[in-house]
Amino acid sequence: MSNARKVRAYTNIALIKYWGKRDDALILPTSSSLSLTLDAFYTETAVSFDASCEKDTFYLNDKIQDEAATLKVSRFLNLFRETAGLKTPATIRSTNYVPTAAGLASSASGMAALAGAANLATGLNLSPQELSIFARQGSGSATRSVYGGFVEWQKGTSSADSYAVKVDDADWDIGMVVVVVNKKQKELSSREGMKQTVTTSPFYSGWVESTAVDLVNIKKAIRDQDFEQVGEITESNGMKMHGTMLGANPPISYWEPDSVVAMQLVRQLRKQGIPCYFTMDAGPNVKVLCRLSDSQKIKTAFLNYFNEEQLIISGPGSDLKEVSL
Ligand code: PMV
Repeated sequence: MSNARKVRAYTNIALIKYWGKRDDALILPTSSSLSLTLDAFYTETAVSFDASCEKDTFYLNDKIQDEAATLKVSRFLNLFRETAGLKTPATIRSTNYVPTAAGLASSASGMAALAGAANLATGLNLSPQELSIFARQGSGSATRSVYGGFVEWQKGTSSADSYAVKVDDADWDIGMVVVVVNKKQKELSSREGMKQTVTTSPFYSGWVESTAVDLVNIKKAIRDQDFEQVGEITESNGMKMHGTMLGANPPISYWEPDSVVAMQLVRQLRKQGIPCYFTMDAGPNVKVLCRLSDSQKIKTAFLNYFNEEQLIISGPGSDLKEVSL
């Protein structure tokens, strides 16, 4: 690994969700989405090409990975190899930094870090925009993890213009309290969940229409640093996404009883005058969008129902970057 260079990418949580593809192979979304990058969760990855190796080797958290996991990484690396005119096998070392085994989906930071490391190892010298296009083909949400702050993934008209752009650095009083309801691997992948929703839910077209409106409105609210407005749109957009899933056949729900407990507590805190709003993804965990200056207060309220290790405070994360080995 003498020539390896390491890249760190932070995960992101969508405030305006991506739920559905118009092209499965290229991972082109039906609608544009917008997220907040988080500094508490990230992945660091180093890639080195080594002609003396027979095949790709993938280590995750210092453990060598099986064929299926390695194949996923190899396929993604092939995009870079093909572009760079390389055939050399690679060694990939990846570490997920997630406080106390939170079990949150790491595909966004994982694929973005891998894209960043492959970019350095191949010497392709891609721009962040090009990197975002590559990351997209690993995992949709990874498109947005190239940048810090508030990030929009513009759905585009083709692969060449479906990438992320930074909307705002989020260098104001904003953050999240992540409520880890369950750290088990989800039973239905987001890939499958999306497909089932797009092909069977009668609510899907309504979702596509209304999410475009939400996107315009949240960008204005972000520009105005209107936290309440950002929160209201976030909560409503997330619930509408889950609504489309309930309309799928068979119906999909990622919720668990404790997810509902967390959502009710957020509503209660709001009634008590603490502005905070929830969102959920393809899993039972609840993310509470709040002012960072209120996060400790919110965590304390949640400690009545959840353990310390289930509650993780995070501020906004930064752009993908090279870090020392
Ligand atoms: O990137 P994927 O394929 O894991 O899809 C992510 C989908 C959601 O997390 C539910 C929404 C989003 O925009 O991140």
